Amino acid sequence: MAPYLPDPPVGIVGIGSDAPAQLLTNHDLEKLVETSDEWIVERTGIRTRHIADDKTTTSVLASNAARRAMADAGVTPEEIDVIVVGTATPDMLFPSTACLVQAEIGARNAAAFDLAAACTGFIYGLNVIAGMIRNGTCETGLVIGAETLSKILDFQDRTTCVLFGDGAGAAILKRVENGKGLLSVRMLSDGTLGDMLKLPAGGSLHPATHETVDLRLHYIKMSGNNVFKSAVKSMTGIVRQGLNDVGIGPGEIDLLIPHQANIRIIEATAKKLRLPMEKVFVNVHRFGNTSAASIPIALDEARSQGALQDGMTVAVVAFGAGFTWGSAIHRF
Ligand code: ACO
Repeated sequence: MAPYLPDPPVGIVGIGSDAPAQLLTNHDLEKLVETSDEWIVERTGIRTRHIADDKTTTSVLASNAARRAMADAGVTPEEIDVIVVGTATPDMLFPSTACLVQAEIGARNAAAFDLAAACTGFIYGLNVIAGMIRNGTCETGLVIGAETLSKILDFQDRTTCVLFGDGAGAAILKRVENGKGLLSVRMLSDGTLGDMLKLPAGGSLHPATHETVDLRLHYIKMSGNNVFKSAVKSMTGIVRQGLNDVGIGPGEIDLLIPHQANIRIIEATAKKLRLPMEKVFVNVHRFGNTSAASIPIALDEARSQGALQDGMTVAVVAFGAGFTWGSAIHRF
């Protein structure tokens, strides 16, 4: 893709997030599959993850995060022109989760649609909405990353069930003053590697049947090692592209917020970018991998912990199923 054009400037003016109250610890998982707290912490950094109950769907978490982002931005539901929900775990195939959120929050003037880019959904969504604001079809946009991955996890498969968690994060986008907001957004994909991380059944390829259920095809399947190698290479490359667009080096980033998939992927990416870990925000130990929700939850937590402050130049980067990957450089 061609470089992002930061003029007129568009940026994040409000952030909010939500996660289910219930925590699943590594010790809880030891009772379900052949694993150990030690193995999970050493290989992933994850200690706990939030897990939704039966009544808590993706749209419930998304709507809660959206309300908080609107309150933070001082925006009413009627002012929202478009809602984009990045998710791999919609409430159902249709209507879209974005439409469910639209109804729930009362955004009666908004267009609404879902965006399928797995863990990169929030960054893809930022770019889609920023483009709409720049072309004048929209003034105020709501982008949400929301997941209830626990509902598509196979709690008999130790190679995946220890990695993921549930949650949602949202951001309000509007025109901002010159020199602020999104300075670059980069997005890429490689569908030839799609087999490495997928949910095989439930679509037109393998519609739901008794057989697909018996074969456990409605759960995440992943080739972890291959995902790991591609993630580090792709995330490093696309942050460099973004920095190049802006004409700055890694040393001029105040904070890197990487997709929270695995502490080893995060550390390897930071090392390749020559960024000290003090400049890298990490909450994977408490949330696990929340896919599209990971970056907006981290943005919200970074801000409430004081790690993200006005005036800072922040790089966010994600990688996910597809494969898709993307980066955004944002001055707050
Ligand atoms: N507990 C104990 N042992 C386990 C577990 C577990 N939960 N899972 C796998 N093992 C075993 C394997 O069976 C294997 O045993 P074997 O040697 O007897 O065959 C051994 O541990 C090593 O397995 P590897 O897969 O080689 O372990 P690795 O060091 O690669 O770690 C992991 C696995 C954590 C999945 C890693 O590959 C990884 O993090 N990959 C990236 C996954 C990821 O983050 N995906 C999401 C990113 S994209 C997105 O967010 C959608």
